[in-house]
Amino acid sequence: MKILVVNGPNLNLLGTREPEVYGTLTLEKINAELEILAKELGVELEFFQSNVEGEIVNAIQAARGVCSGIVINPAAYTHTSVAIRDAISAVSLPAVEIHISNVHAREEFRKNSLIAPVCVGQIAGFGLNSYRLGLRAIFDILNG
Ligand code: DQA
Repeated sequence: MKILVVNGPNLNLLGTREPEVYGTLTLEKINAELEILAKELGVELEFFQSNVEGEIVNAIQAARGVCSGIVINPAAYTHTSVAIRDAISAVSLPAVEIHISNVHAREEFRKNSLIAPVCVGQIAGFGLNSYRLGLRAIFDILNG
C-alpha cells in the first residue's frame, strides 16, 4: 500500500521559516520520521513538495491507480485553491489535511479551508506529530 504525502508552498523552507510558528525541523527530517512510522505500519510513502499550484494538481492526479490515499499539507493553498480541492475530489482517493500550526488559533483567513471539505478530516497544531497522526489516520481509514 502506497500513500502520497504532499507538501505545499514554502514548506521546503521548514527549519528556518518562522521557527516560532513551524518549529526547527526541516522537511527532510519530517519525511525521515514519517518513513520510520511507515515501516512500522508496513506502508510505502511517496513524497511530493511544490511551491506551484498546478504541479500539486498534477501530483494528485498522478496518484490515481498508484497510491491508496493522500496526506496533504496544502500550506497557503489551503485557504485559496479550488484547483487542489477539485483534484482531490476528482481522483476519489481518501485524503487527510494536516497543518503544523493550529490554523484556528491564528489569523482569521487561516480558519477557512477550501480543502478540508473534500478530505476525511483535518489535523492541525501538533507540529511533526500532525504528519504522524495524518499517516496513522489514513492508514486506519484504508484498513477499515
Ligand atoms: C500551514 C498553515 C498555513 O496557513 C500556512 O500558509 C502554511 C503552513 C501549517 O502547516 O501550519 O504555509 O499549512
